[in-house]
Amino acid sequence: MDESIEAVQKTADSPVDELAEAVTFGVDAYTSEAYVRAERDRLWAKVWQQVGRVEDLPDVGSYLSHEILDDSIIVVRVAADRFKAYHNACTHRGRKLVDVPAGAKGASGRRKAFVCPFHGWTFNLDGDCTHIREKQDWGGALTAENTHLSEVKVDTWGGWIWINMDPDCEPLRDYLEPAASMLDPFELENMRARWRKWVIFDCNWKVAAEAFDEIYHVDITHPEFVQFGQFNGWARAQGKHSNIGYDAPRNMDANQQAKLRIGSGDARVSTAKMQTFTWEQVNTNTTRTLVDAALRLVDELPEGTPPGDVLQHWLASARRDDEARGVFWPKVDPAHVGKSGTAWQIFPNFQIGHAVNNMLCYNFKPCGYDPNKCVFEVAVYELFPKGEEPKAEWEYTPVGDPRWRTVLPQDFSNMAAVQQGMKSRGFKGPKPNPYRERAIANLHRNLARYMGSGAPVKLK
Ligand code: FES
Ligand SMILES: [Fe+2]
Repeated sequence: MDESIEAVQKTADSPVDELAEAVTFGVDAYTSEAYVRAERDRLWAKVWQQVGRVEDLPDVGSYLSHEILDDSIIVVRVAADRFKAYHNACTHRGRKLVDVPAGAKGASGRRKAFVCPFHGWTFNLDGDCTHIREKQDWGGALTAENTHLSEVKVDTWGGWIWINMDPDCEPLRDYLEPAASMLDPFELENMRARWRKWVIFDCNWKVAAEAFDEIYHVDITHPEFVQFGQFNGWARAQGKHSNIGYDAPRNMDANQQAKLRIGSGDARVSTAKMQTFTWEQVNTNTTRTLVDAALRLVDELPEGTPPGDVLQHWLASARRDDEARGVFWPKVDPAHVGKSGTAWQIFPNFQIGHAVNNMLCYNFKPCGYDPNKCVFEVAVYELFPKGEEPKAEWEYTPVGDPRWRTVLPQDFSNMAAVQQGMKSRGFKGPKPNPYRERAIANLHRNLARYMGSGAPVKLK
């Protein structure tokens, strides 16, 4: 393994003030086509990438394809508790074994075997080539080994399936630390998608990722939220990964406030308003149960109830309501909730916005070798009663489609404009807020270790 990459892993327990000084870096990572091309081999071929949920492949033979630049990976369930992954290329003359249907994010379905559409070579789920027409013509040169599908590492964590194209990669669990241990108590594997959408943006994947990995933009990009309270957030470097969270207001314990927010003023009223607004205009970070429990606060609590008590009451009554319908939130130690923050940026391109009963996840991928394009995916999850989980398919949803509602389009409105502004000959490089936008500096520090260029330098 690259020495500098190893060095990053050793910093996983690094103090929270790591990367505290102001830094800047160049724009090649966002705008250079040569950089995008280099990412293909130096980054995407080396990192663990989440490619879908375990529940997306329910049966033996269920498969999906993960598309990243020129690489396409087939992941297939081969047993109740086992997946395998293969490069999507027939070992005869290289034809893709499965095609991505027009307009889809990837291929998916269920097969007993993979039959190549070109000359019919056939592969079982374990990747063995089981049928070759006129095999004798090769005079015995075709072996089980040289006809077997080319394997890719695959593992699961948090309910996601992850792949790594590097045969010598570190185990997934090691790669994900300390994020995996911090997030395990939230039992993310029990959540199911309520909705999933994807779209192509006119910006680099990092521009899109960095629009969602800090809270600094909320007051200005999402002005409606200002009426509900202050949205100040911290960011910490966590080795390869980062996490972000809210600063605790003066009158509230940091551990309480860290996850589900209550509003300012009369917390009973503002919490109900913020929950309703969030449910209707974003449809993320909350559930119907939480909204309904928030709407009852004015009836259930006297005027003047301290905000901390409003929060406790709200969460306890929502937890009870959910338990009554067979939905059980994990019990996570409040100190741990506080430390875990509101979201983790998993290097390089995945974000998990976790909570005890719902989560909001973003994924960002290059779209061909154009540095100005990316594939953006959003998935919103929650806990459902057993047997009542919806089957939320991925919906391609163009920018401007009303199904995005009103808040996410405010984020989208910055994407192409940031990409364009970065290309200005007058722009000298990003200057992320060292406290609130540290996840951005950490992303570029870690990217530079894989890419060999673009490391942040002290801002002068
Ligand atoms: S390329 Fe697949 S059978 Fe010929
Ligand atoms: Fe935003």
